[in-house]
Amino acid sequence: MLEIRYVWEWPVRITHWVNALCVVVLALTGFAIGTPILVAGDGSYVMGWVRFVHYVAAYAFTVSVLARFYWMFAGNHHASWRAFIPWTTAVGRRNFVKMLRYYTFTGKQISYEVGHNPVAALAYAGIFALFVFQIVSGFALYSQYNPGGFMAGLFAPLLNLVGNQWLRLGHHGVMWLLLGFFINHVYSGWLMDVKERNGTMSGIVSGYRFIEPRDL
Ligand code: HEM
Ligand code: HEM
Repeated sequence: MLEIRYVWEWPVRITHWVNALCVVVLALTGFAIGTPILVAGDGSYVMGWVRFVHYVAAYAFTVSVLARFYWMFAGNHHASWRAFIPWTTAVGRRNFVKMLRYYTFTGKQISYEVGHNPVAALAYAGIFALFVFQIVSGFALYSQYNPGGFMAGLFAPLLNLVGNQWLRLGHHGVMWLLLGFFINHVYSGWLMDVKERNGTMSGIVSGYRFIEPRDL
């Protein structure tokens, strides 16, 4: 019989939607910073506002990502850091191959999961790594505005080692990777929602999923 299970606790859901909103705002404002066509010549301060919004979203994003990292140690086992490294168990490896084959049109079977499927979980681990890269490179660039400040002291070694233009290029490039992921993410989520009929999409809003125990 179909069971209703509470899978995504509220910190997972809140941080997911704060991150998603921030990524959109940061990509729009970041793109405008990198391609400043709206140069303020009439004292309208357009680019100043664009950068201000980028920094406000950046702080919100940083707090949200750190909160999610904390929840990887405090939350239920679907939220745990262990869920993001599926290849460490034999079952995880088997299900990973099954899902990879399904996504690449070389197999028809899927692994029914209560939480993230193993391929999605690994992709999310990569996304969290990109989040950390954006935060570190972003704050390193940000620290240049106050060369004698605390943050400049923190990030000076990175700026000296890599150089600010490489950091800008990396920061810009990762924006495109995140936007590419966004398109694939919504497509795969929708696909799994239809295939598994378990409320994948509504689950990230409500926290609940519909599970048929026989399928697991
Ligand atoms: C309309 C927009 C979006 C929808 C409908 C959506 C939907 C979902 C769903 C249904 C899940 C759970 C899927 C699963 O079981 O594997 C999920 C998880 C996740 N999504 Fe999204 N998503 C959206 C936007 C984004 C964006 C913009 C990002 C970041 C670039 C993102 C990153 C993630 C991550 C990292 C997880 C894992 C959550 C965790 O365990 O903390 N999502 N999303
Ligand atoms: C998903 C997260 C983020 C995205 C997609 C993003 C995107 C961008 C892009 C595309 C640029 C323009 C780069 C260029 O072509 O020169 C930029 C600039 C910048 N970003 Fe981000 N960013 C993100 C997060 C952050 C964070 C967390 C910070 C931390 C404060 C930050 C601080 C900055 C700074 C300081 C600049 C340079 C501004 C300037 O030169 O006036 N970003 N961002």
